Amino acid sequence: MNHFSSVRDVPDLKQLLETALAVKQHPHAWHQLGKHKTLGLVFFNSSLRTRMSSQRAAYNLGMNTIVLNVSSDSWQLEFADGAVMRHDKAEHIRDAAPVMGQYCDLIGIRAFAGLQDREADYREEVLEAFKQYAGVPIISLESATLHPLQSFADLITIEMHKRSSRPRVVLSWAPHPRALPQAVANSFAEWMLRAEVELVITHPEGYELDPRFTQGAEVEYDQRKAFEGADFVYAKNWSSYTHYGQILTQSEGWMIDAEKMALTRQAFFMHCLPVRRNVVVADAVIDSPQSLATEQAANRVVSMQTVLKSMLEQGVASN
Ligand code: CP
Repeated sequence: MNHFSSVRDVPDLKQLLETALAVKQHPHAWHQLGKHKTLGLVFFNSSLRTRMSSQRAAYNLGMNTIVLNVSSDSWQLEFADGAVMRHDKAEHIRDAAPVMGQYCDLIGIRAFAGLQDREADYREEVLEAFKQYAGVPIISLESATLHPLQSFADLITIEMHKRSSRPRVVLSWAPHPRALPQAVANSFAEWMLRAEVELVITHPEGYELDPRFTQGAEVEYDQRKAFEGADFVYAKNWSSYTHYGQILTQSEGWMIDAEKMALTRQAFFMHCLPVRRNVVVADAVIDSPQSLATEQAANRVVSMQTVLKSMLEQGVASN
């Protein structure tokens, strides 16, 4: 892995998952591996889990971390080639990224979709610019279209709780008051489609995801029907991909509640957090013993540590 921004960067998913289970069991076994290495964590957007779990993962490997919150701490960055920089943006990515690459051996980037221009978002302009100019490996901390460290943590969580060799995993759209990107849903779909699971995606009409990430998944527009026989229910809101960035309907009837969970095969409930309680999911579900939300968040340390370990062992950060 020269960079980590999608499951497509993973040469052998089964092996990566085995490594993750070893990391989970012995988190301090490689505490010298990252000695004298520095992980940069660059945030264009807010974060709780990604920020803290990435620092903890680096610490477990003996690495240093430098955190930069671009929107509040740094110069505003220009990404357009040939820009005449007379306005609010003081520094070009062509200058900023190579400088960050001098201070850091690996850099994590969080840059959400703007939800205004689908083509620009799906070109991953921010992430790709860092890959092009930083000169060091780049790890996605959630990009415009994907959230691979979350999906990897989700897969680890499913692996630890599955009761059959090929569990039925249902990704369910759920309501939300704000327009959210498709990144978590796209990413979950592309990881599940490479794992040993049966993936069903359920959402109201108009919320179809980009088929580049979902091809091979069953789509069921009837949420109750989708839940029948489910082993895992993964709730997430996303805005429309076809009517890009729009909320087409509030669809309160899509909230995950105990009555719907009763249709499943005593399914585990999953959510990446943060979650709007009693909008996305009822308290009775997220507070139930079947909820894996906190464990998913705990496994964010494992997913990041596993990715860092693999990259360090490959020597990709050996400047
Ligand atoms: N799930 C997740 O990425 O959480 P944060 O946005 O808090 O980092």
